[in-house]
Amino acid sequence: MNQPESIAPATGKLGVLIPGMGAVATTVIAGVEAIKAGIGQPIGSLTQMGTIRLGKRTEGRSPLIKDFVPLADIDSLVFGGWDVFPEDAYDSAIHAGVLDQRLLDQIADPLKAVKPMPAVFDRNYVRRLEGSNVKSAKSKWDAVLEVREDIQRFKADNGVERLVMIWCGSTEIFMEHHEVHDTIEGLEKAIQENHPAIPPSMIYAYAALQEGVPFLNGAPNLTVDVPAMVELAKQKGVPIGGKDFKTGQTLMKTLLAPGLKARMLGVQGWFSTNILGNRDGEVLDDPDSFKTKEVSKLDVLEFILQPSLYPELYGDIYHKVRINYYPPRGDEKEGWDNIDIFGWMGMPMQIKVDFLCRDSILAAPLVLDLVLFADLAQRAQMGGIQEWLSFYFKSPMTAPDLYPEHDLFIQLMKLKNTLRFLRGEDLITHLGQEYYD
Ligand SMILES: NC(=O)c1ccc[n+]([C@@H]2O[C@H](COP(=O)([O-])OP(=O)(O)OC[C@H]3O[C@@H](n4cnc5c(N)ncnc54)[C@H](O)[C@@H]3O)[C@@H](O)[C@H]2O)c1
Repeated sequence: MNQPESIAPATGKLGVLIPGMGAVATTVIAGVEAIKAGIGQPIGSLTQMGTIRLGKRTEGRSPLIKDFVPLADIDSLVFGGWDVFPEDAYDSAIHAGVLDQRLLDQIADPLKAVKPMPAVFDRNYVRRLEGSNVKSAKSKWDAVLEVREDIQRFKADNGVERLVMIWCGSTEIFMEHHEVHDTIEGLEKAIQENHPAIPPSMIYAYAALQEGVPFLNGAPNLTVDVPAMVELAKQKGVPIGGKDFKTGQTLMKTLLAPGLKARMLGVQGWFSTNILGNRDGEVLDDPDSFKTKEVSKLDVLEFILQPSLYPELYGDIYHKVRINYYPPRGDEKEGWDNIDIFGWMGMPMQIKVDFLCRDSILAAPLVLDLVLFADLAQRAQMGGIQEWLSFYFKSPMTAPDLYPEHDLFIQLMKLKNTLRFLRGEDLITHLGQEYYD
């Protein structure tokens, strides 16, 4: 990566366009409106609360990240999006049942103003949903043109200077990489011919890239994780990133697994099961949507524990992930992990984790950070895959010849070093005084 000559300033308003205005999206929008109104705090957001150490430890320089790099201000964010259900963000947030009704009532006006545009939707890709707010485009190519018009109209109507698109839509069915995804020409031909390897998420993503809008993917769908989209993003100088927000059980895995490996403790089995009752859980009850999620969740341990380097410790792990749809819980998921580990002389031990989390509460700050960092990357002329944002994803996108980095702490170091690099500060290696400073 070359250091940018300069980072364009974050002037004017930043539009945030969200395909899929369900639990995660409305929790972000409501949270941002509450912060603007001075009645909420951005807890969990690195861009808003995190600091970054600069120079030697003796220098005592640790500014807030948002003071160190020129991020768009929260007050400048304007939201829009698409959904197959016509409810505005206020009604959708109430349906999602994540945030307290009293909080939602205090910001009802800005939430009611966010009304989803008709979605590009096809039940072949998300079987458990049926809604009325859907485009009637005759072909996939026409759908692209309609989304591009939506983007242009949103920009003009709201007077925004820049845009970021972030997919918070349902998880689509499992799709293998197909040869039509290999080149830009192949992808465009496939869209024109209504090829089944083009799901709605790719239509939004392709439209965004053509409009020069950064695209981030919060679900495990392929979407921009195919060579044609990566090439298009590079050609257009547009940042892309994905896949699948790292929250809940996988967040816990990426906290625990690096610790076990650091101490050279073995793992024999890792059984993870969840109950959740929100719309996401309902969609994931379809085996083909679950398969997409399962692949994303299973890869994590393999990459962190590196069984090929440590066959005695991690060569024979039994790893299982289950998601069970259980309506009484709503968004208040419960995730159990049973981890069978072994230590000195092979003696077995067990760890049990019972995480009573709220998925959308964990996801919302990630959406805010991703939007602000993708906009920063755009202004710093950093097109293509943003590997430094792996910190936020369960299945980080990488260049084809690289394996993804899943260790949360390595990911954080990479993110902060990228920010230091952008500002021309020394990278921090954490070597001690006696060797380095
Ligand atoms: N909550 C988390 O912590 C978390 C973590 C990782 C990933 N995710 C993923 O984020 C996504 C959103 O999660 P959620 O809990 O908000 O789910 P949700 O079901 O509440 O919201 C998804 C919304 O997307 C809409 N939708 C589906 N297909 C669409 C399309 N083609 N165009 C426009 N809208 C469409 C649905 O109508 C729904 O309102 C899911 O894919 C989920 O797997 C969530």
